[in-house]
Amino acid sequence: MTDHTDTAAANQPLHGHTGAPLWLLAELTYRCPLQCSYCSNPLDFADVKEELTTDEWIDVLTQARAMGAVQMGFSGGEPLVRQDLEMLVAEARRLGFYTNLITSALGLDEARILALREAGLDHIQISLQASDPDVAAAVAGSRKAHAKKLAMARAVKAAGYPMVLNVVLHRHNIDQLDNIIALCDDLGADAVELANCQLYGWAHLNRAGLLPSEAQLEAAEATTRRWRETLAERGRDMRLLFVVPDYYSDRPKACMGGWGAIFMTVAPDGAVLPCHSARMLPMSFPTVRERPLREIWYDSEPFNRYRGDSWMQEPCRSCDERRRDVGGCRCQAYLLTGDPAATDPVCDLSPDHHLIEAARREAAGDARTLNELTLRNVHASRIFCRA
Ligand code: SF4
Ligand code: FES
Repeated sequence: MTDHTDTAAANQPLHGHTGAPLWLLAELTYRCPLQCSYCSNPLDFADVKEELTTDEWIDVLTQARAMGAVQMGFSGGEPLVRQDLEMLVAEARRLGFYTNLITSALGLDEARILALREAGLDHIQISLQASDPDVAAAVAGSRKAHAKKLAMARAVKAAGYPMVLNVVLHRHNIDQLDNIIALCDDLGADAVELANCQLYGWAHLNRAGLLPSEAQLEAAEATTRRWRETLAERGRDMRLLFVVPDYYSDRPKACMGGWGAIFMTVAPDGAVLPCHSARMLPMSFPTVRERPLREIWYDSEPFNRYRGDSWMQEPCRSCDERRRDVGGCRCQAYLLTGDPAATDPVCDLSPDHHLIEAARREAAGDARTLNELTLRNVHASRIFCRA
């Protein structure tokens, strides 16, 4: 029998020992009232019909905690669509998880914020699409969402939570970053994640209309630096985290801290994944309805396939940096090259790096307008369903 040590210090996958999954992301549902064109959900999300029940989710939380998981995020889709969210939060809290709700705020109201607080929810992160209501409406496919988000951001703060906002940046809103940060400041935000769009799922489908140009990116970084200085001069404590898009790096990120190293996603139907995007890879992932979570994490073929470094091809195989970035992101490698075991093309040592350079060149020119992007919705998803 494998010796499964349940401590963070034991997470050293590159040395042949698999540690515990410290992070659990519970994607409660793919249902969502919004239709964001940059959504990272799988294109065929409409194919996923049988969501885990409340009891099944509680069993997942219990198993994950017993394995050593300590942090968990409730996400989706929109997790507030699930009417049992408060019950699941309470159970997660009882088990000893630190809990985070990642939400659009649609489905939230003052009563529900209080109920979540009473259930023991530790942290709420609300997404904003833009400062301009028209841009926000075009990105999310909803005219009403923007005002609701602003109201709920204030309500979350009034309920005693820090106001943590997430703004996904792309070529249609990045030039308004000054106004976006000013809006967050006016709202009284405590922290703002300015996250350049990660190009998975629907965002990858819409890549030509989302990826900013290098000039846009440089201007946005300068704006962020300027705001940091201004905030510091005012003694205003609003943290700005600027997340650079992979496509403008020369080295890839160590995605998820490594495949099956510390992070585990459970999808709405119970499929267990090493990351939120992996279900589009050409491999099949077991579900919690079929096998215990512990067995899936430690012993299943998909979780072991890209652990460590023995699976790597050149140039990663003989690269001194392979333990720092674990060869990059498997999903990005697959989306760009068709081979999930390839070196992430973001790396300038990759033979496929020209694909990234071509995308950058494309982004420097005219791109699809906002209204030409494909909104994420059930109708569009059915086109991609396998059934
Ligand atoms: Fe990382 Fe592979 Fe590039 Fe080396 S060749 S820096 S391991 S992605
Ligand atoms: Fe799946 Fe990076 S997003 S491995």
